[in-house]
Amino acid sequence: MDLNDDLYIRFRDLLLRRAGLHYPERRRNDLAHGLGQAAATCGLTSLEALYQGMVENGTIWDLVIIQLTIGETYFFRNAAQFTALRERVLPDLMLRRGPVRSLRLWSAGCATGEEAYSLAMTLADVLPAAPEWQVSILATDINTHFLQRAREALYGNWSFRETSEAARERFFTPEGPRWRLKPEWRRQVIFARLNLAEAVYPVVTNGTVALDLILCRNVTIYFDEATTRQVIDRFYAALAPGGWLIVGHAEPNADIYRAFETHNVPGSVLYRKPVNAPAFVTVQPNMPAVALPPPTLPPSTLPPPHFAPPLLVPTNLQPATAPRPFNTTTVAALVSTPAPAPPAPLADLLAPGRAAADRGDWRTARASVEAALSVNPLCAAGYYLLGQILEHLGELDGALNAYRRSVYLEPTWVMGNIGMANVWRQTGHLAEARRGLRSALYHLTRMAPNAPVAGADEATAAELSAYVRTQLELLNK
Ligand SMILES: C[S@@+](CC[C@H](N)C(=O)[O-])C[C@H]1O[C@@H](n2cnc3c(N)ncnc32)[C@H](O)[C@@H]1O
Repeated sequence: MDLNDDLYIRFRDLLLRRAGLHYPERRRNDLAHGLGQAAATCGLTSLEALYQGMVENGTIWDLVIIQLTIGETYFFRNAAQFTALRERVLPDLMLRRGPVRSLRLWSAGCATGEEAYSLAMTLADVLPAAPEWQVSILATDINTHFLQRAREALYGNWSFRETSEAARERFFTPEGPRWRLKPEWRRQVIFARLNLAEAVYPVVTNGTVALDLILCRNVTIYFDEATTRQVIDRFYAALAPGGWLIVGHAEPNADIYRAFETHNVPGSVLYRKPVNAPAFVTVQPNMPAVALPPPTLPPSTLPPPHFAPPLLVPTNLQPATAPRPFNTTTVAALVSTPAPAPPAPLADLLAPGRAAADRGDWRTARASVEAALSVNPLCAAGYYLLGQILEHLGELDGALNAYRRSVYLEPTWVMGNIGMANVWRQTGHLAEARRGLRSALYHLTRMAPNAPVAGADEATAAELSAYVRTQLELLNK
């Protein structure tokens, strides 16, 4: 199929605008090849038809993305960076997060999962088993086929090219010629679709706020510079003060990272959001900068630390609707007006709280959502948001109550059930966690598969069902 000049320019612009993927003239042949394969997969006989299908942003778009993205990856890729993680980054975070014993990590552009699982395996050696740490590892990618393979966690020898045999034996079980990650490590990572080129992060509902570490390696090499700048700026906002960013080797434009501190370590460069960067109130007390400790933590054979899913949710993460103007006066005005005012739309009432939560300002978010709930105490979405905020504040009992109320107010509010299951799992109440997930599944299977689920950032019923089933399977192992 011929990719003529006109079509080349249209495909190039669409891919750049929607996914940040950059196809300059020198990569035109790669693009033509990928598009030809995608058209064949879709049973289309012309690139024009493929283009029209992509514009609609549905299955055809996904299939093209599956065809064009490159998922080259392996466990413990770039040994120097994993050494730095073990010896500098994680010990630093453990000192800083010691008072709350909680870590939030994100593998952005995770491909088939090796990077995120390498993080889980590294933490197994670095974190003490007791007292327990709450760890969440979020792993996202734009390619749904890669995500599916990541969840299956079944790998061939090529993925282990930098992994010792001892580590492979410890973390995996052989299945024919391949190896499957053991369930206790699989359940530590939550996989979700997220297009880094879209303005869908940092946002509290998808677990991309107040992060301690972001790994985004060998991803922005496919983007143009403007997209890369936007992505790095968003990562900066998504990190808590003192949070670390690790990018791949082939991403040397230092100016893009100018807001970060630069830390040179043998064989790599790491970035850190300054400890004293303007911060909203977060879970941990403000701590002074600390000297990085020497690498004294020996490999541990203790049981894995307790992992908590991100305040999740495996959302579809389509572009958010245009952000509503931030109306700081809505809640205050409603609360202070004695006479009953005409009720504000619920979304407006919650908007300031949601905005505060999205920027990690948990205490403001809590006050704002509680004020909104005092105006409209029958708002399931409000209680669900409050539950997420309280989880961030470490108030798990309060979070559980808030989730429970959301379900009480709207029995089909499945995100409330999922929230409860999260808390129960974190507190070791596995039977209750299973019950919450089953209840969510019950309602999800009664919805049209492609119906968006309230409170889940447009994730569909089918997508959430798949997520809930995996969680149940992992809890049952
Ligand atoms: C080469 S892999 C990198 C995997 C892993 N981070 C590593 O370094 O081993 C690049 C990944 O970036 C993903 N990717 C490309 N464009 C993306 C976008 N706009 N949003 C999210 N992920 C994207 C691809 O699907 C692919 O899985």
